[in-house]
Amino acid sequence: MSTLTQPIQGMSDITGAEVRLWRWMEETARGVMTRYGFEELRTPLMEHESVFVRSIGDTTDVVQKEMYVFEKGGRRYCLRPEGTAGVMRHAAGLGPQETDGARWFYLGPMFRCERPQAGRKRQFHQCGVECLEAPSPVVDAEILALQMDLLQAWGLKNLAIHLNTRGAAADHAPAAAALRAALAPHEAELCEDCRRRIGQNVLRVLDCKNEPCKAVVAGLPALTSFMSQESRDYLDAVASHLSVMGVPYMIDPLLVRGLDYYEHTIWEIVGTAAGSQSALAGGGRYRIRLGERELCGVGFAIGMERVAAALEEAGLAAAHGAAVPLDLWLVGLGDAAREANLALMRSLRAAGLSCRMAPGGSMKSQMRAANKSGARFALIRGEDELAAGTANLKNLATGEQETLKTEAIEQRIQAISAAAAPTAASGEPT
Ligand code: HAM
Repeated sequence: MSTLTQPIQGMSDITGAEVRLWRWMEETARGVMTRYGFEELRTPLMEHESVFVRSIGDTTDVVQKEMYVFEKGGRRYCLRPEGTAGVMRHAAGLGPQETDGARWFYLGPMFRCERPQAGRKRQFHQCGVECLEAPSPVVDAEILALQMDLLQAWGLKNLAIHLNTRGAAADHAPAAAALRAALAPHEAELCEDCRRRIGQNVLRVLDCKNEPCKAVVAGLPALTSFMSQESRDYLDAVASHLSVMGVPYMIDPLLVRGLDYYEHTIWEIVGTAAGSQSALAGGGRYRIRLGERELCGVGFAIGMERVAAALEEAGLAAAHGAAVPLDLWLVGLGDAAREANLALMRSLRAAGLSCRMAPGGSMKSQMRAANKSGARFALIRGEDELAAGTANLKNLATGEQETLKTEAIEQRIQAISAAAAPTAASGEPT
């Protein structure tokens, strides 16, 4: 594979119908998130490495194995592997006046050096939100409702929220110690990774996919039994608020998240259709200390590639990927007609019409270009038409042709274009 003609492995060019689908997904998302009172925040793609090490945690796979880190001028930078830490870095530089109650959303590329496979890329895109209101199960449930609304606004059905708790911060060490103690008699039955995880990141044993590890985990008490009543009550309250809003969920006691900043509510959303095993989205409540400030928030991120694939699978992508044809292709025979068309194109575009022309060539080659472009009409004129102050307008789909006065061209095309407008809102001209 040539490094000069192919993108980096695990990264993709997004083109044509896919771009139109993505633009529709992004605009739909902006609409939904705005209705929930969120404002867009755009943080840099690159941050100081320490922003992520501090917030995501230095024992996580993301920090240990997946970040693109590099050094320049004695400083260590990285490409952002996720959006939360950058938003919190932004918040940590502000005063409480500006952050209390803040609701931000973001859309953009993230980078993780993972082994590329279906649904797992090295550059992928997230649509996420972070909400800095005072911690409350009410807010967590509202954010979950937003996430479901968003997925449904894209047309996705058959979604399941897997809900669990990481427990209050004070519960983390005792719960991990209790889990270690419960696993100790079974250490020999666990895979090599899990034996290592016991010392480093013991919760990850709970979501190991190896059968022997799953069998050990199935025999353990639920992690919540090692947590305080406060933690269990918080989860129950989130669940009850979800029920009030009619948002379906399932408690999944084995759900763990790959990022260390969480406390209390955590979740993932998976499609339940056949063939969809990976999470479309994940989120939760977190506490992150950066510099002088400790910030508590709740949020989620949705994987846009996975949503696009789910829409494709459900047969819903094509409707949003259709190209909107050009209104007009201008065909000019001779230098004078070409110059007149150049000038006309500017005024047509200023009037909101989409048009193109070839820089020269025979009538045949220009008409071929017009047909290939998919334009709805061709406007054809040569020296005779210029002299008469007219132009021929040809409907490229039906072949019908009419002669127009030059000054009537714009109005006529506007009228035809408005009559055929229904598809114009769903995309961009080719
Ligand atoms: P995450 O679970 O690491 O959470 O990622 C969220 C979503 O991003 C995943 O559910 C998946 O759809 C998508 N995703 C992650 N990695 C990849 C990949 N390599 N290729 C394609 N898609 C991927 C977070 O990133 C947290 N920051 C979410 C959050 C926001 N928690 C609180 N606020």
